[in-house]
Amino acid sequence: MSTQDVSTWHYGVIAHWWAEFNTTGPEIDYFRQFVEAGQPALDVACGTGRLLLPYLREGLDVDGCDVSPDMIARCREAAAREGLSPNLYAQAMHELDLPRRYRTIFVCGGFGLGSTGEQDLEGLRRLHDYLEPGGLLVLDKEMPYAAGTRWQYWLKEKRQELPLPRREPGKRRVGSDGAEYELRGRLIDADPLDQSVTLEMQAFMWRDGELVAEEEYLLTERFYFRNDLVRLLEHSGFLDVEVRGDHNDAPPRAEDDFLVFLARRQAT
Ligand SMILES: C[S@@+](CC[C@H](N)C(=O)[O-])C[C@H]1O[C@@H](n2cnc3c(N)ncnc32)[C@H](O)[C@@H]1O
Repeated sequence: MSTQDVSTWHYGVIAHWWAEFNTTGPEIDYFRQFVEAGQPALDVACGTGRLLLPYLREGLDVDGCDVSPDMIARCREAAAREGLSPNLYAQAMHELDLPRRYRTIFVCGGFGLGSTGEQDLEGLRRLHDYLEPGGLLVLDKEMPYAAGTRWQYWLKEKRQELPLPRREPGKRRVGSDGAEYELRGRLIDADPLDQSVTLEMQAFMWRDGELVAEEEYLLTERFYFRNDLVRLLEHSGFLDVEVRGDHNDAPPRAEDDFLVFLARRQAT
């Protein structure tokens, strides 16, 4: 399987959008504690470096990987602008082939995207194998019943309404280079047996009022409930699997949209 088989939308204009507009968020502070406690660290599905760049700036030893060469390219450019030259790899999680192992591996918003169920399992096995003995995996996952996941469309009656209609033109955002950007997403399909949804994203870019790029992508996301993911981690060789709340250190609650999974590789 090549990285081309992974169905995500993090390419082209969308990679520019991420680099321009997705640069903050509470996850940066949350994941930092784990990186500080165990280096070197690997940021899996690092995207354009929302977490990676602040950590590198602080002198932490972190490598990054992501299935999208476009996201990696935008990340590399942003790092270079600050005089940084991180080790970045354009690889899918289930195909990881890296030169070193890590004390900490973290995945923020990247698990279950664009992959099959078998690839998710293989991805976890590789993350396990790229940890040093005793190393820690920290992985977050949005729950299927979270606010933004359109849970109602998993129901038989609501699935008849899919695909949802395309969105009307909305608000454009202006990037640092003066280009204007707009993304329009919609739900295409929900497959309860596979626990996955298919989403479409249209991406537009204008320069000086003229449309210079119009792209269309599909992304699949596979959802896992808490117990699904705990079992998958155990099945992949991890020990001491612990679940925490939505980017906090509290026990998980039904109100949490995201859960965070901590899992260790055996010490010896
Ligand atoms: C929601 S973004 C999160 C990016 C970054 N972790 C952050 O929090 O800013 C998801 C990222 O996962 C990457 N991705 C999706 N499927 C992947 C896979 N199977 N293996 C590795 N990366 C993947 C995408 O290319 C994208 O950059």
